[in-house]
Amino acid sequence: MRDLHRPLSKAEALAVFRAAFEQAPTGRALSSADGTLRLVNAKLCEMLGYTAEELTGRDYAGITHPEDLAASREHVRSLMAGERNGFQLQKRYVRKDGSVMWADVTATLLRDAGGRPLCVVVDALDVTEQRRSEEQLRVAQKMEAVAHLAGGLAHDFNNFMSVILGRAGFALERLREGDPLHEDLVEIEKAGRRAATLTDQLLALGRRRAKAPEILSPDDVLRDLESMLSRLLGEHITVARTTEPGLRCVKVDRSELEQVILNLAVNARDAMPDGGTLTLDTANVTLGADAAGTLVAPPGPYVRLTVSDTGAGMDEATRERVFDPFFTTKRPGQGTGLGLATVYAIVRRSGGCLELESAPGRGTTFRLFFPATGETPAPAPIAPAPPRDVPASQGTILLVEDDAAVRRVTERMLLSAGYRVLSATGGGDALLLMEQHDGPIDLLLTDVLMPRMSGPKLAERLRRIRPSLRVLFMSGYAAPDGDDTRWAGPEVPIPGTVIPKPIDRATLLSRVREALETPSGGAGNEGGPGPAPG
Ligand SMILES: Nc1ncnc2c1ncn2[C@@H]1O[C@H](COP(=O)(O)OP(=O)(O)OP(=O)(O)O)[C@@H](O)[C@H]1O
Ligand SMILES: [Mg+2]
Repeated sequence: MRDLHRPLSKAEALAVFRAAFEQAPTGRALSSADGTLRLVNAKLCEMLGYTAEELTGRDYAGITHPEDLAASREHVRSLMAGERNGFQLQKRYVRKDGSVMWADVTATLLRDAGGRPLCVVVDALDVTEQRRSEEQLRVAQKMEAVAHLAGGLAHDFNNFMSVILGRAGFALERLREGDPLHEDLVEIEKAGRRAATLTDQLLALGRRRAKAPEILSPDDVLRDLESMLSRLLGEHITVARTTEPGLRCVKVDRSELEQVILNLAVNARDAMPDGGTLTLDTANVTLGADAAGTLVAPPGPYVRLTVSDTGAGMDEATRERVFDPFFTTKRPGQGTGLGLATVYAIVRRSGGCLELESAPGRGTTFRLFFPATGETPAPAPIAPAPPRDVPASQGTILLVEDDAAVRRVTERMLLSAGYRVLSATGGGDALLLMEQHDGPIDLLLTDVLMPRMSGPKLAERLRRIRPSLRVLFMSGYAAPDGDDTRWAGPEVPIPGTVIPKPIDRATLLSRVREALETPSGGAGNEGGPGPAPG
């Protein structure tokens, strides 16, 4: 390096300043008062994808994102009017390939010897990735909070729905067709079922693990959905499928993956009322540390599912809120706004991540990344036995439920099927009953979350007295996933022993019968996998 301690000649000083501009690690430009770019450095060219020749002589407005143009103009105007000497701004540029770049921009006004505005030096730092990872993190945190809220709400809701649906069912059975109350009750029941469906969707947002994860190839799932998709989309939409040989498998719940694909396809259809193309692409990809960091997922191998449409696209305001539950731009009755919230929740609980690219008039692309697994799918299971009618039953059931209304309705369902029922309002009560009751108790049917003593804890205590006691749980969380934090610690019910609320009579009775048919103290009651959740 040459010695810079001695005074520089004019030519040397000029060369040094030129190099400081040319070789700066950030994008730099010199623009004249009217906003024309006079000089650009190599970094700026690289950031925007243009050559220096293409940029020089251009107006800055031509490379500014339309939505940020007004703000940029105002800043430049105030600079040129002498109102200030510089500004800082976060704004978007449009690269040569049409993609968007976010930049932190610092502009400084240079004046001539007489103090008149001469030109502006602009310094731009690419913060696109930083903004993306901040955005991903923000969405992840928001969805976490929403899921928590939804799960809690759904739990209480399911207790109410158990009572409403159960009682409406009993009343309907007692009425004759022509009874004037018949129609009212049918409507109550219908509304109740709709509410239960909604609660189910909310619960799905809060679930931490897939219901029944299996190893499967996304291509197989797409193939099985083909005919349904074409019916759903209609003839005005062309479906294009691309994939690559040797696509890896993923571990997800099949019905959840189907739901993801259908939700995205229906959204695409709605965005293309005049027709267009829906492209479904699957590929093996590897997320390096950088990409994984941005997408908030661990680096490694993934299967990427890309769903893109040539539809209306979304502006930024919509893009920012699409994953919010109940955010919809559709007319009432046309959309609930839970589609993408559900997609997000399902992808996240598979351990994956997703990104969205969309602009008005430029269509929409969702990229979903599911962790790839080296395992291969299990052979197809033997067809399940057809459901049987519930026969009149025998046996004594100890029912424990702190909510009186839910307890009464459940009791009545059990009694109507011929069981003997001992009802308790909580753990203490149940222990007393157990001590005092001389005859056999065949099954403990208990709520999970109860004040003072939880269902699992109670089961453990009762098992100490009667080791062969069969146990079934009822829960408004309906989550047979063992790692749900709301079932903290060792008090996790054995998978497959949980009956979801709202309690549906047919499900309750078939699960109870199934449990009673297992030899007491046998599998499903000693910690092995129980019967599949109904
Ligand atoms: N492919 C797309 N193109 C354009 N806009 C979309 C697309 N997908 C989603 N959106 C926008 O995002 C909003 C939310 O989508 P989401 O699927 O969560 O709810 P919805 O479709 O409105 O209702 P639901 O899916 O519950 O029936 C939509 O209302 C729409 O404005
Ligand atoms: Mg939708």
